Amino acid sequence: MSPRYAVFGQPIAHSLSPHIHAAFARQEGIELDYTAIESSPEGFAAALESFAASGGAGANVTAPLKETAFALCKTFTSRAKLAGSVNTLLRKGDYWHGDTTDGVGLVRDLTDRHELDLRGRRVLLLGAGGSARSVAPALLDAGIRELVVVNRTPERADELVDAIGEPGRALSRYWDDLRDLGDFELIVNATSAGRDREAKFELPLSLVNTMTTAVDLNYGDAAVAFLAWARAASCRNMVDGLGMLVEQAASSFQQWHEVRPDTDPVYAELRAKNALAGEE
Ligand code: ATR
Repeated sequence: MSPRYAVFGQPIAHSLSPHIHAAFARQEGIELDYTAIESSPEGFAAALESFAASGGAGANVTAPLKETAFALCKTFTSRAKLAGSVNTLLRKGDYWHGDTTDGVGLVRDLTDRHELDLRGRRVLLLGAGGSARSVAPALLDAGIRELVVVNRTPERADELVDAIGEPGRALSRYWDDLRDLGDFELIVNATSAGRDREAKFELPLSLVNTMTTAVDLNYGDAAVAFLAWARAASCRNMVDGLGMLVEQAASSFQQWHEVRPDTDPVYAELRAKNALAGEE
């Protein structure tokens, strides 16, 4: 049976992952079978089982399945364990090994592509779901000074911060207190609020300083609302999740095929088709 790869999620029809992995495979001269498979959280265990039975060797997992995927893995990388969330599955014998490459993908996009120096920065993380949990430890590893986590449901922000276990550097605050938190060099939107077409972000302007970069982990329509706020608030840089998407895919690809693809041409091609929210 030839190995199969796939991305699972719901909805999944518009996922760019099959295209990205096909482009990487062409670069490396690898023949690749990588498809998109729609699955609900309830149906995911069975879908993954049948994928494995038909030659499934690796998978990416996107919303809303990252935490369900975690529960279906037998072994993990330490960063996946910390996040309680996986986006990359690797078949090992008769079980799945889980990793999360979102965090390293984000950091690589910000530092290599956008040439941001994260060291010593104050960072505001909006959200405490699977995506937020994947990126928080990677931001701390990149040398930021302080991570303030704010979530609509405050208990989830507390849990995230507790899991990180660096009380001096990572702390949780209430959404209602955003006005009192001072300013940040990096503001990361890891909420899924922008996926609602009616969404509007109304965040205090006091969060922004002359250096602030605003990052939405989403791309396309889902990033419009947050980046529109960032533009109106005169943030210095605005970054959507397209670069992170390509970088996290490269890290998954590397684990499955033991070679790191060149992300720049793939990113450039996708960027040409996906203008940053608000750009012509
Ligand atoms: P993902 O895998 O994309 O992280 P998730 O785990 O479902 O998705 O997490 C969604 C995140 O977006 C959560 O932090 C959620 O806040 P709650 O924990 O309070 O649910 C946040 N979120 C979703 N809709 C939101 C909204 N309208 N306003 C603010 N936060 C929102």
